[in-house]
Amino acid sequence: MTTGKDIGFAASLLRAGDVVGIPTETVYGLAANAWDPDAVLKVFVIKNRPAFNPLIVHIGNWEMLGEAARDVPPLLMDLAKAFWPGPLTILVPRSEKIHDLVTAGSDLVALRMPRHPLTLTLIETCGFPLAAPSANPFGYISPTTAIHVARQLGSGIPYVLDGGPCTVGVESTIVRCNDHGEIEILRSGGITAEQIAAITGKLPVTASHETGPVAPGMLKSHYAPRKPLFLGNPAELLLRYKNYKVGVLSFRREFAGNNINCCKVLSPSGDTVQAARNLFAFLRELDDTDAEILIAEPLPEQGLGIAVNERLFKASAGNLQI
Ligand code: TXA
Ligand code: MG
Repeated sequence: MTTGKDIGFAASLLRAGDVVGIPTETVYGLAANAWDPDAVLKVFVIKNRPAFNPLIVHIGNWEMLGEAARDVPPLLMDLAKAFWPGPLTILVPRSEKIHDLVTAGSDLVALRMPRHPLTLTLIETCGFPLAAPSANPFGYISPTTAIHVARQLGSGIPYVLDGGPCTVGVESTIVRCNDHGEIEILRSGGITAEQIAAITGKLPVTASHETGPVAPGMLKSHYAPRKPLFLGNPAELLLRYKNYKVGVLSFRREFAGNNINCCKVLSPSGDTVQAARNLFAFLRELDDTDAEILIAEPLPEQGLGIAVNERLFKASAGNLQI
């Protein structure tokens, strides 16, 4: 396995039905030709991903939207026009070119145009869209650099296109148009509810996590480090776990204490955009220390804080300590 910036080489692998790690503005993806079910199957096998969990199809231009979707509800089209290329995924009725494997049998396909120059050029060069989940083993922390991908999936894939560190750092926001004609957020991500409201004139509703056809990324434990992670007030959690060696992931300020092995501060200036960009890389760093447990501080529920908290909550698999 190698990493590099050779778009021609990446395209030749994809044309031959192979998989390639690709950069996006959110997280790195593990890509295959979306029209080729044999290639898509490799993605599931390499990620150890259950077949019931469908993949996002990444398009490189507006013609590909017409090829992949049967039709696009006007509200979702407004959002795509406003935020593509960018961290928004829309769920729309699929065309006959989309194989069952890609959508796990659903009539809806998840589409997005990523905002990364290397990957947009790659898709244009290939001439087909790329089905790609995040390039991490199923359930583990998402990768935000080519090295993260190489370390975890390296032996299983021939090439990672290295586009540098991801600028957004959390996955795309997934939306659909529900039966009441409202925009519904299935997964919070790089586009906030307020940004959506600025286009549609109405705050989107949030899908209940308990019921309904929830995106399987909503599985309870996800984005998780190997070490147990506890989410809550760090000062209180540090007292409670005083007999453990602890790694701390805090929002603005450094925490000190005898039992702290390492403390990573997501954004000393309190910027949720910067915090989102650092989230997964810092979680990985803490997971690689010899701390026994991890403690994470929730962000304020505003801006990208909502998307970050959703991931921390899943990474803690519900070990909420507040
Ligand atoms: O930012 C992102 O969205 C990144 C980059 C690589 O584009 N991709 C990503 O993919 O996060 P993944 O597979 O890790 O998460 C995609 C989520 C999953 O929760 C999946 O269940 C949901 O999207 N999804 C995909 N297709 C769907 C469909 N047809 N219906 C409902 N949910 C779908
Ligand atoms: Mg993922």
